[in-house]
Amino acid sequence: MLWVTGASGFVGTQLLRRLRRDGVAALALARDPRRLPAHWAAVAWDLEGRAPDVASLPRPSGLLHLAALAHVPECERDPQRARAVNVAGPARLYEAVLERWPQTPVLHVSSAYVYRPQPAPVREEDAVEPASVYGVTKLEGEALALGLRDRGHRVSVLRPFNHSGAGQDARYVLPSFALRLAALERRGGGTLEVGNLHSVRDFLHVSQVAQAYLDLLPRAGEFEILNVCSGTGQRVGDLLDGLQARLHVPVSVRVDGSRLRGAADAERLVGDPSRLQAALGRSLRLDREALLDELIEDARRRVAAGESVAGA
Ligand SMILES: NC(=O)c1ccc[n+]([C@@H]2O[C@H](COP(=O)([O-])OP(=O)(O)OC[C@H]3O[C@@H](n4cnc5c(N)ncnc54)[C@H](OP(=O)(O)O)[C@@H]3O)[C@@H](O)[C@H]2O)c1
Repeated sequence: MLWVTGASGFVGTQLLRRLRRDGVAALALARDPRRLPAHWAAVAWDLEGRAPDVASLPRPSGLLHLAALAHVPECERDPQRARAVNVAGPARLYEAVLERWPQTPVLHVSSAYVYRPQPAPVREEDAVEPASVYGVTKLEGEALALGLRDRGHRVSVLRPFNHSGAGQDARYVLPSFALRLAALERRGGGTLEVGNLHSVRDFLHVSQVAQAYLDLLPRAGEFEILNVCSGTGQRVGDLLDGLQARLHVPVSVRVDGSRLRGAADAERLVGDPSRLQAALGRSLRLDREALLDELIEDARRRVAAGESVAGA
């Protein structure tokens, strides 16, 4: 049975749907399992508390650790909590699981935000220099995971770059744009306030990322660190233009200084996918137009259903 943490999150939800579709048995570890569909086997686990009583759970065929405090500004506001969730939490879980089942394949999902941004696509061996509390805690989580390899455990670290799709939290850049644009469209127009539109990011669709994790899990331990990326940069402003072009009403755009994130808002963060391609035997490419269609349609549905765009 495959164990998945962060099962109620954006990626976790996609992943469990996939597992169910493919008939793979999974155990969801979630802070509040009541938020998960009732047909999923689930156990309550808060990363800030004690590790679950693993002896009462079915043996894991693999462990995919997704859970994290993943929103950059939230981590800046509470670094202590970010460290508790992103470092101390997985440390306790790994200890408990690997003590009982030492050869469990473990994928530790980190982030591209551990890297020092650079003009060229970033390789796994390039310099790490996180510019945010989120990135620092992700790097500390990596060190913990990599340390387990030295003790003979089958642990590998993944560094995903950005991913998006329907259902993503409104605080992230693309759903934030899409939801607020859909709300303005409903009102007949207006002005969208934005942060830095010049940053370039390496986006994939969340379903591609979820599938890559599942494909890589049996190989956990064989590699140390892998980027999960496409190798292609997308300018955030161009993605916004694409969303705007899908609206039925004109909307203007204004830069709002309070939406700029300073050093955490790296200009360019694009990954080198060579090692990932070698491991997967395929490359991951974003279908940009399909992603933008999906985001705007999802946003229209969410706005029509009454979702607030206040935090977007
Ligand atoms: N999405 C991206 O573009 C991206 C890019 C790079 C890396 N990542 C990494 O990918 C992983 C999944 O990201 P995501 O987009 O799915 O993020 P997400 O939607 O914010 O999901 C995070 C998950 O972590 C859980 N969590 C947070 N605090 C917890 C706690 N104290 N105890 C137990 N669970 C807790 C959340 O549970 P609740 O549902 O109960 O809040 C949620 O299920 C994260 O490690 C993230 O850092 C994501």
